[in-house]
Amino acid sequence: MLKLSKLATAVALVVAGSAAMAGEVEVLHWWTSGGEAKSVAELKTIMQSKGHTWKDFAVAGGGGDNAMTVLKSRVVSGNPPAAAQIKGPALQEWAAEGVLANLDATAKAEKWDELLPKVVADVMKYKGNYIAVPVNVHRVNWMWANKAVLDKVGVKSAPKTWPEFFEAADKVKKAGLIAVAHGGQNWQDFTTFESVVLGVGGAKFYEDALVKLDQKALTSATMTKSLETFRKIKGYTDAASPGRDWNLATAMVIKGDAAFQFMGDWAKGEFAAAGKTPGKDYICAAAPGTGNAYTFNVDSFAMFKLKDPNAQKAQADLAAAIMGTQFQEVFNLNKGSIPVRLKMDMSKFDDCAKLSAKDFVETAKTGGLVPSVAHGMAVKPAAEGAIKDAVSQFWNDDKISVADGVKNIAKAAATK
Ligand code: GAL
Repeated sequence: MLKLSKLATAVALVVAGSAAMAGEVEVLHWWTSGGEAKSVAELKTIMQSKGHTWKDFAVAGGGGDNAMTVLKSRVVSGNPPAAAQIKGPALQEWAAEGVLANLDATAKAEKWDELLPKVVADVMKYKGNYIAVPVNVHRVNWMWANKAVLDKVGVKSAPKTWPEFFEAADKVKKAGLIAVAHGGQNWQDFTTFESVVLGVGGAKFYEDALVKLDQKALTSATMTKSLETFRKIKGYTDAASPGRDWNLATAMVIKGDAAFQFMGDWAKGEFAAAGKTPGKDYICAAAPGTGNAYTFNVDSFAMFKLKDPNAQKAQADLAAAIMGTQFQEVFNLNKGSIPVRLKMDMSKFDDCAKLSAKDFVETAKTGGLVPSVAHGMAVKPAAEGAIKDAVSQFWNDDKISVADGVKNIAKAAATK
């Protein structure tokens, strides 16, 4: 009897001990498509295995605009989530508000400085302190194609230049299929637009025009040519594209209703979730003219300052888990991206991911590695929003001349 009661006390102590360590993490993200949901579920599983409670705060809407609006209202009302998907220069703006937690203790213990490319680590820091943890590296300048559709219409390989692309697209159109699956939302319009600018003008021009927002580049003949090419692509989309979600556009390519989609490699997460194999069922290729360049998009989570020590412990565990090898592998296999952590074993990854990993390293040496503007990597949110609006207005309204389109985008780029 005595022994049993001793045991009960010991058990109670252990339970109390672990309960004291466990906390709840409420995590804001916009990963709601099939492939995205599978990926984020892996993080939830890891956190639950550490005894924490996962409170999912998913706000639907690719590209995250809706999520950012909801986040602002939660923070303004003094009720921030434990963690939120925030990226690029926006991290600096949030940190400057004084609402983000310092992650240096975890970063030091887990050796993040040694495990991250310096360009990435710098974005995760505010005044030298880590305020966010990176998840992955997405490549944005991809073109996805349905292999059976290309075979059927006699397109032998993925087009490498824009003229080749339009030739291929004409063949698809003639066969009565949709050449380009597009979702008409402004971040998706811009995802296509930035690949066109990169393909037409090259990495240096992309950097001058879209990253440095140099007025000379923005009003140049190369920009005119980019807008002409961009408008031409619209002629290959279907009438139902306005407002369509990106994953529904990907589904059109998966099903063979459409031949091509211009989208970052989260699209590969959809192909993977549908059981499709690259090279056999679908093709991943750099967007025309962009084979030597790489627009990167690094997802990251920032943690908000919380008072409860259990919640702080859960945040630290979340940050450590995200940079851990287990998560970096399984998450990125599902998401279509590559690990952001250096020296990871890539043997389980497919050829698209291997190409992405190789090109990430090579373009970093040649100057071809550039940040994605569409995905919040390059420009402060106010100017980014203004340029995106100008580009979408041009895309949606055929009455806007190319010359006016160029002027409107250049004007929007001057937004402070
Ligand atoms: C991007 C994000 C990706 C993917 C995509 C579509 O901005 O970085 O991880 O989720 O939106 O939702």
